[in-house]
Amino acid sequence: MMTITDAKRGLIKQFRDAGLVAPDLDARAILVAATGFTPTEIITRGGEDLSGDTICLLEDYTARRLTGEPVDHIQGFREFYGRRFKVNNDVLSPRPETEMLVDKALEILKFKDAAHILDLGTGSGAIILSILAETNAITGEAVDLSAAALKIAKENADAHDISGRVTFHQGSWFTPVSGCFDIILSNPPYITATAMENLEKEVKGFDPDLALRGGTDGLDAYRAIISKAANYLVPHGTLLFEIGYDQGETVSHLLEEAGFSDIFVHQDLSAHDRMIKAVFNL
Ligand SMILES: C[S@@+](CC[C@H](N)C(=O)[O-])C[C@H]1O[C@@H](n2cnc3c(N)ncnc32)[C@H](O)[C@@H]1O
Repeated sequence: MMTITDAKRGLIKQFRDAGLVAPDLDARAILVAATGFTPTEIITRGGEDLSGDTICLLEDYTARRLTGEPVDHIQGFREFYGRRFKVNNDVLSPRPETEMLVDKALEILKFKDAAHILDLGTGSGAIILSILAETNAITGEAVDLSAAALKIAKENADAHDISGRVTFHQGSWFTPVSGCFDIILSNPPYITATAMENLEKEVKGFDPDLALRGGTDGLDAYRAIISKAANYLVPHGTLLFEIGYDQGETVSHLLEEAGFSDIFVHQDLSAHDRMIKAVFNL
């Protein structure tokens, strides 16, 4: 016999001994995934015994966590902008800092009755689906090179009941799209070849390489997108990128060279460059 509280204590100890950064949070998430209870129920029903099946599941999840598999992959979802998005090894788990792109897009869109937006490298679909879910009249298109990622993005669109307002395309950046967009957003792969060598095990082993690898200097995707973006933006349309912590200056320069104006680098809560906004005025 093992109660929920006993299991939680045991998990915290195992995760702490293994050097995991957040043993308490991990233990809670693993217990939620194995029992199907809410985080609150894990506390209020702490005295209840776990069934044999749940203990087996818990042992499996614990072993996976101890090999470095992220909690998101074990539980099968990640919370982003207040919603749950399915994730697996085929998509990058959306990061909290990427919510800045959603905030900025919504700020721009609040002055528009209708708009059409494009998300390049959509992965789980978290960015565009969050924007569409927060609005009523916005429509969008989303591109990814990975067919497996698009499958997850489509499932997420269905789960949030917004499939009717988004079209998914497989292909490289602008290749599969036509027409013009009010906003083009992208959180492209931006990790340099050198940084790829030193990635944490949890990222390198479980997030897809295609979602991370940005070429020798990390800027391949920015160059590819910036070189064509003006052809796909309405007059005064906005380009919004997530960027790496040290890429503000170089990406600004690429945008200037391509004729963009109103270029603004935004920093995250840690005061690192995180997002860049530019407008095409011609
Ligand atoms: C950093 S991930 C971002 C995923 C998601 N937008 C997010 O923010 O969580 C980059 C995405 O770009 C996609 N990708 C990489 N190269 C691409 C290309 N040439 N054309 C389209 N998508 C590409 C990857 O498959 C991956 O889903």
